[in-house]
Amino acid sequence: MIARNIISIDDLTKDEILEILDNAKKLDLMEDEKKSEYLKNKIVSTMFFEASTRTKLSFESAAQKLGAQILPFDSIASSLSKGESFLDTVRMLESYADILVIRHPNDGAARLATEVSNKPVLNAGDGANQHPSQTLLDLYTIKEEKATLENLTIAFVGDLKYGRTVHSLTKAIIHFNPKKIYFVSPELLKLPNDLLDELDSNNINYDILDDYRECLHEVDVFYMTRIQKERFPDIEDYEKLRGIYVINKENIEGKTKEDMIIMHPLPRVDEISTDLDNTKHALYFKQAKNGIPVRQAMMLRVLNMEVK
Ligand code: CP
Repeated sequence: MIARNIISIDDLTKDEILEILDNAKKLDLMEDEKKSEYLKNKIVSTMFFEASTRTKLSFESAAQKLGAQILPFDSIASSLSKGESFLDTVRMLESYADILVIRHPNDGAARLATEVSNKPVLNAGDGANQHPSQTLLDLYTIKEEKATLENLTIAFVGDLKYGRTVHSLTKAIIHFNPKKIYFVSPELLKLPNDLLDELDSNNINYDILDDYRECLHEVDVFYMTRIQKERFPDIEDYEKLRGIYVINKENIEGKTKEDMIIMHPLPRVDEISTDLDNTKHALYFKQAKNGIPVRQAMMLRVLNMEVK
């Protein structure tokens, strides 16, 4: 029986990840008319308790292209303002919709929702914990560009402490025998120890750096992240670290592999200069676009629907 929630990337085996990526590819190539039959008469509720552009709107677009209707939950205008609890809110929405897509600022909120929901829950990002749909679209993007997920050298740069996209992708890439992973951050934003332990127990070759220039020449995938102001308990720490890593045409030109790709979950602030946007290295907008077929494949999976 296929699990009906995707809360963590750990909920999926390597084969299940690859199956989702294959289905996403099929959906990407499928005619719109055929695609629009899959979720006819289904309702997808997007419950976002935290800001989002890409995840919310790409889930909504993906579901609509599959023929579903969207039930958007407005956390400001809802009865949360009257003191209704998160779990009571989930109970209500699961009785109105067929899938719940949940983003929440608290770690573990999506998992908590599964305790009261009889409908599939997709975690659209919980605090600093996990962002599995982002990871699946990241993997899809890497596979499309590199024709493989195996044996790659990857640099994660920026906020590795609170960056849920980094946490999920680090866990996922363990399945694919990375040649080397570089974790580049200031000490205060270092990757959590439990993830370092997981890398160690899987014999993954990694290094911890504070300057990306030390590894730039050898990486296949440069995964930049934003220093996330909203996650800092102490704003003074944020002020000290903002702008710490910036890449632009001048500081990477001639110093990378020809086919190095730059990825970023977005939104960016100033860490990737716009002068890189039209270079062959810039994959971040294509990466965000890949959210559509990947999130379609996820929704069909949790409803146990085969992609033909
Ligand atoms: N990558 C990502 O999660 O973007 P949003 O916050 O805009 O959804």
